[in-house]
Amino acid sequence: MPGKPFTIAVSGKGGTGKTTTSSLLVRAFMDLNETPVLAVDADPNANLHEALGVTVHETLGSMREEAFSRQIPPGMNRHDYVRFRFRQSLVEEEGFDLVAMGRPEGSGCYCFANDLLSECMGELERDYHFIIIDTEAGMEHIARGTIGKPDLLLIVSDPGARGLRTIARIREIAIQIGLEKEKIKVVFNQYKGGAAPIDIGGEEPIAIIPDDPLVEQADLNARPVSQIPATSLARVAVRKLAEKIVATAKGRA
Ligand SMILES: Nc1ncnc2c1ncn2[C@@H]1O[C@H](COP(=O)(O)OP(=O)(O)O)[C@@H](O)[C@H]1O
Ligand SMILES: [Mg+2]
Repeated sequence: MPGKPFTIAVSGKGGTGKTTTSSLLVRAFMDLNETPVLAVDADPNANLHEALGVTVHETLGSMREEAFSRQIPPGMNRHDYVRFRFRQSLVEEEGFDLVAMGRPEGSGCYCFANDLLSECMGELERDYHFIIIDTEAGMEHIARGTIGKPDLLLIVSDPGARGLRTIARIREIAIQIGLEKEKIKVVFNQYKGGAAPIDIGGEEPIAIIPDDPLVEQADLNARPVSQIPATSLARVAVRKLAEKIVATAKGRA
């Protein structure tokens, strides 16, 4: 399926399961042979790499600071140098690549630097089937345009009443940054069964991910959550979600 990649942003309040969901989605697209996948860590509390079991040496934020403050090698202009460093900060794995955005802004003017990063991101994005962005509730990098607008926004939430307000707030931010309502879907995570999930205005959540002891165990043992068994509750639920997304992406083409 070469052509335009399908981009999924995963947002939500801290601790609701954005990183868990994002990494399991990366894994599910790999299982469905929808590769290569680009994983983008756009949460300043970056930990997507841990969930995927890879190491990040440099974020785009720190690369930008460095590439604009030091001498560039002879024979290169700053533009080429940034592009070169950008490619270097990409973590390349079998089936997926990962890029960590780091902090959106330091002090000083970064317009030129950020335009250049957007350009690099835009070029990079073309190489993938699916792009998964693990992002904080404010969706800073999307709002600033460093990352393009997603085709689908997943709001990960607690299935109980306290999730409602956050869902409403994130939806509002999303609409403010120009996402269409139809592209915004809710994912309930850590569903414990028993009581039904909260009513989100009659709309169906796109997925319900059960509370999974194997996810917790991976966390306790500092093991990458994306490597829990394929039969585990959370992985099965996220695979179903990925299948739905693949069908939507194919329908769009
Ligand atoms: N479905 C799940 N079942 C059990 N524990 C979960 C599940 N989803 C997330 N967790 C746990 O909840 C915590 C927060 O998850 P995380 O994905 O890091 O959230 P976020 O990225 O939104 O801050 C972690 O300790 C994680 O192991
Ligand atoms: Mg996280």
